[in-house]
Amino acid sequence: MEDLKVVIGSDHGGFHYKEAIIDYLKARNIEFVDMGTYTRESCDYPEIAKSVAKKVVSGEFNRGILVCGTGIGMSIAANKIKGIRAALCGDTYSARVSRAHNNANILCLGERVIGEHLALDIVDIWLKTGFEGGRHKRRVDMIE
Ligand code: RB5
Repeated sequence: MEDLKVVIGSDHGGFHYKEAIIDYLKARNIEFVDMGTYTRESCDYPEIAKSVAKKVVSGEFNRGILVCGTGIGMSIAANKIKGIRAALCGDTYSARVSRAHNNANILCLGERVIGEHLALDIVDIWLKTGFEGGRHKRRVDMIE
């Protein structure tokens, strides 16, 4: 597995899963920074998406994880930032292939959509899977 440096964020709708993912990262000594939100109070997901995305495109962190109620708002917002390939995943196959084929650099999850154990399995697979490159690199380069 490559050296992982993870930046994570959520809005209020994804707060609980963010905390669970942080526990997962801590238990595995994976370096991370938490960009908030830090309470369950209502907040605006585009701001969190932007702060996480900026830390990925700057190269300071190589992976980002964003959680909101559906994962949709976070993925739309993050994908507005040039260089971001945010993948909204609700199953483990998509998580694996979003890394292997799409070289996704941000994982988005919907706390109100999938169960917590599935969310953690998705995180586990997404963090462990590398980009296959080759023909997939050509296609990813075409997006950029
Ligand atoms: C917040 O209520 C909710 O809209 C947000 O978490 C997310 O689902 C947006 O896409």
